[in-house]
Amino acid sequence: ATELTWLGHGSWSLRIGSTVVLLDPFLDDSPTAPVKASEIDADYILVSHGHFDHVADAAAIANRTGATAIANFEITQWLANKHQVENTLGMNLGGKVQLPFGTLKMTVAWHSSQLPDGSDGGNPGGFLLTTEDGTIYFACDTALFSDMQLIGSCGVDLAVLPIGDLFTMGPDDAVEAVKLVAPQRVIPNHYNTWPPIEQNAYAWAKKVSALTKAEPVIVEPGGKIVL
Ligand code: NI
Ligand code: MN
Repeated sequence: ATELTWLGHGSWSLRIGSTVVLLDPFLDDSPTAPVKASEIDADYILVSHGHFDHVADAAAIANRTGATAIANFEITQWLANKHQVENTLGMNLGGKVQLPFGTLKMTVAWHSSQLPDGSDGGNPGGFLLTTEDGTIYFACDTALFSDMQLIGSCGVDLAVLPIGDLFTMGPDDAVEAVKLVAPQRVIPNHYNTWPPIEQNAYAWAKKVSALTKAEPVIVEPGGKIVL
C-alpha cells in the first residue's frame, strides 16, 4: 500500500511498502507541522523548489538518515556542496527516473525557486509519482496552467494541489486545475500555515464536488490518506 501523511504546508511523508519518501519537509519552523525534523524517518527526500518552506529541513534529515535527496540539479548540487548531503539524485523538468518505490517524473510548475542563501535554485517543479498502487500528482507550488491537462492524461489517482493563494494558485484556480488534471481524488495543501494563506478547505471541497468528477479529501496535519 501507499500511505500519505500530511505534515502541514507542502510537506508529506509517503510510506510505500517499507520505504519512506518525504516531500518538501518543512517541520521545525512550520507552525502546523505535527512532528520535528529530528523525529522523522526517510529513505528519499523530494524537494520541489528552492524556497525556505520547502528545502527547510531536507539537508538535516538527509544527513541524519542517509536518505537520498532528489530535486532539480541546481538544488542537489547546493545540498551536496553547501550542506554536505552525501546521497543526491539531480533531475530536471520532464525527466523521469525508475526508483525502487516507483517511477518519478519531474513536472513543470509556474513559480520561482531561489534558495534561502540567494543561490540559484534552478526551475521549480512538481512530481508525478507512480507506485504499484497508482499515480499521484504533486503540483507543488504553482500557478494554474493548461498543460495540467497533459499531466493528467496519464491517469491520476490522487492530485495534491495548493489552494492557499497569494504565492500559489488559490481555491478557484485550483478547481480549474482539478478539471484539467481530472484525478479520481484530490487533496489540498499549502494553506492555513500562516494568516496570508488562510483558506476554507471545506468550502473548496464543496465546489470541487459540485463542479468536477473528482472526490475531494481533506485531512488535518498528521492525517493520512491511503492510495
Ligand atoms: Ni515556493
Ligand atoms: Mn511554498
